[in-house]
Amino acid sequence: MAREKVILAYSGGLDTSVAIHWLKEEKGFDVIAVLVDVGQGRELKPLAAKAGKIGAAKTYCIDAKREFVEEYLWPALQAHAVYEGKYLLATALSRPLIAKKLIEIARKEKAAAVAHGCTGKGNDQVRFDMAVLTLAPNLKIIAPLREWDLTTREQEIEYAQVRGIPVPVKKKNPYSIDENLWGVSIECGVLEDPDMAPPEDAYQWTQNPLKAPRKAMDIEIAFQRGIPYGLNGTKMEPIRLIQRLNELGSQYGIGRVDSIENRLVGIKSREIYEAPAGTILLQAHRELEALTLDRELFQFKESLAPKYAQIVYNGQWFTPLREALDGFVEKTQYRVSGVVRMRLYPGFATCVGRSSHYSRYQKSLATYEKGDQFDRRIAEGFIKVWGMPYKN
Ligand code: ARG
Repeated sequence: MAREKVILAYSGGLDTSVAIHWLKEEKGFDVIAVLVDVGQGRELKPLAAKAGKIGAAKTYCIDAKREFVEEYLWPALQAHAVYEGKYLLATALSRPLIAKKLIEIARKEKAAAVAHGCTGKGNDQVRFDMAVLTLAPNLKIIAPLREWDLTTREQEIEYAQVRGIPVPVKKKNPYSIDENLWGVSIECGVLEDPDMAPPEDAYQWTQNPLKAPRKAMDIEIAFQRGIPYGLNGTKMEPIRLIQRLNELGSQYGIGRVDSIENRLVGIKSREIYEAPAGTILLQAHRELEALTLDRELFQFKESLAPKYAQIVYNGQWFTPLREALDGFVEKTQYRVSGVVRMRLYPGFATCVGRSSHYSRYQKSLATYEKGDQFDRRIAEGFIKVWGMPYKN
């Protein structure tokens, strides 16, 4: 009888390398390894070859960068999704997309199961499983790290060495790192002490702000209907635009975050994040909304941002609520076109100029100089009515 197939989200790291062997030898599956490119910035082809060497029957390399940007990053940007005020959700946003790709391949390959290398105490398992539960309830989900007895990295390395699974030979990275176009998440090792300042080597992309250029740099980001499409007057393809802003932001040490966050599974964890492009874009986008949206819409929309972030963080991407919120947000973006000038300083960026055809700013009303058209006489009556409920 033919063996059943399992579609494994393969990253090339130790966990998923051991998982290939384990799924094949211990569970009796034909393992199909899938590498999804969400802008990790690493060559996937050599990793695919490695999967084959370990025992994968087949490997897929999927370039999902464009889909990631257009269907995940832009909606999150427009919604101003930042979890607990700090985390731009790079890792969290990639999970539903990777799960979706696994499911597509599972259907094509008529596989019985999908598998991932998430730990049993993190958020990522929730995001993967939730996506599969909602999109393909008939697929079995296997999370080797929830099942096997290998509880430490050392045990995994030993398991690998005994069975001839290639283990990264270079000096063991002291951190657990997840990267994509939207940023890097870094945890473990010395970072587990929340009172210990992150060593400089924890940061993967960004330069120490103290080593950043001493001169500020102005950049202009053009948006159309809430989507960034140009830099300094030149049209730029979305992936390239994010990469370029990551480079510039990294030079200036922009977008570093050190946080204690509340995981869905009920524990607190310490994580370092870097999101240079996202940090710049988010600020720029909000500035353009401040210019173009009326007060009620601007403030109401902002009130939804923490909820949207929670939905992404908690693995509720493929739900009616997220879709409904996206519908609302999209509707608000009609006027969010224009150009925002951001000034990059060592360690942070700030908006220094914005313009739009849809600007609601009226100089004739705001000015304290000649040309003032605001009727000051009506203010008194307005305030009397406004304050009426409080008058004693
Ligand atoms: N804490 C982040 C989240 O839950 C990132 C998780 C993965 N982090 C890592 N360093 N591998 O989305």
